[in-house]
Amino acid sequence: MADLHPDNPYAKDRFADPSKKVEFSPEAKKKFDWILTRYPTKEAALLPALHLAQEQWGWISPETVHYVSELLDLSPATVFGVVSFYNMYNQKPVGKYHLQVCTNLSCMVTRAYDIYEHLCEKLDLKPGETTPDGRFTVGEVECLGSCNTAPVVQVNNDYHENMSVEKIEQLLTNLK
Ligand code: FES
Repeated sequence: MADLHPDNPYAKDRFADPSKKVEFSPEAKKKFDWILTRYPTKEAALLPALHLAQEQWGWISPETVHYVSELLDLSPATVFGVVSFYNMYNQKPVGKYHLQVCTNLSCMVTRAYDIYEHLCEKLDLKPGETTPDGRFTVGEVECLGSCNTAPVVQVNNDYHENMSVEKIEQLLTNLK
């Protein structure tokens, strides 16, 4: 049978491998238990629980989807639905610096694509790829909600606003 495109939700590597177990570190588990006390139901704690998981593993693997679903008494499909809805959750491993360029309207008209293309060219990456040294991943995202400071590039959890090719070049140098 032909392999499905890796982005297809039914591709082989998007299913949990039962031999790969994941578990929160004792410290993360403590945080998770505290999160549960802050919400009226387990389901309501799903977004922060996923943030916590991403903090520990850097992305949300299919095994993590199953683990979180067990912890919160939810189906893996419910958890995967949330993970795939929000682009703040990484569905693949990313580099140490995850550079996300907003290319929605306000950013696009203020030349976000110049920045995006420059990054891909400079780092020799195709969109979504990570440099071989594991330092940089470049991606394109929808509106980051900061249109008045367009164009915007998100690096991990930080926004870099009013960007330009020159500024991104400087940022790359600072991150290296
Ligand atoms: S369009 Fe880029 S932040 Fe809104």
